[in-house]
Amino acid sequence: MPAGLRRAALIGAPALLKVAASRRLCEHEEMSFIVETDRLGMRPFHPDDAEPFLAMYNDPAVMRYLTAETAPSSVEEMRQRIVDYPDYKKHGFGRWSCILKETGKFIGFSGLKFLEKFHGEVDLGYRFFPEFWGKGLATESGLASIQYGFEVLNLKRIIGMAIPENKASVRVLEKCGMSFEGYADYDGTEAVLYAFERRQD
Ligand SMILES: CC(C)(COP(=O)(O)OP(=O)(O)OC[C@H]1O[C@@H](n2cnc3c(N)ncnc32)[C@H](O)[C@@H]1OP(=O)(O)O)[C@@H](O)C(=O)NCCC(=O)NCCS
Repeated sequence: MPAGLRRAALIGAPALLKVAASRRLCEHEEMSFIVETDRLGMRPFHPDDAEPFLAMYNDPAVMRYLTAETAPSSVEEMRQRIVDYPDYKKHGFGRWSCILKETGKFIGFSGLKFLEKFHGEVDLGYRFFPEFWGKGLATESGLASIQYGFEVLNLKRIIGMAIPENKASVRVLEKCGMSFEGYADYDGTEAVLYAFERRQD
């Protein structure tokens, strides 16, 4: 494990980081987890996630700080967006659906995204249904994503951005071991920019 990441694990939740890069078989092979944490299985988006995914878009509490995003108008449109999501093929990674292992249910998404419009930086992002907030799940998924980014994708740097008022999101970036670097204009919104650079061993 990179030394820098050990720091993140200590700041965050030391017991959570057992990113097995596991391929635990689910009902369908395409729903296999890429990464598991204590409580979460993380896997690529699947068209069958469309209904809960759309429900997140339609929840004002979830979208409070995500005003630039437009919600799909139907489950069918949501399914199509998932089918068309280009990141896995284009960049070899993308955000992942998060499945609560205890129930097998989709509870949100988390993970890495290649930002073409932002100097090719790789960004950590997350979104969960409100009933799952405040339990450390975003941090747990964020730490696992960072570990995957450094150990499997061999990235050197991962950033995170949030509008300053989104205190929970900023706190997650901090708990994932990221450091404040300044402010950034992302798609016309002023965001705080955090980053985690992998230390060269
Ligand atoms: C941001 C989000 C993913 C956080 O998920 P979560 O699972 O609740 O996060 P965690 O439990 O891992 O950590 C949340 C931290 O923020 C803190 N927090 C929450 N609300 C806060 C507030 N208003 N002010 C300060 N800290 C706050 C929590 O206390 C916790 O920190 P702690 O462990 O030091 O107490 C969740 O709120 C969400 O899905 N929001 C809607 C989508 C979104 O805004 N995504 C981010 C876009 S940049």
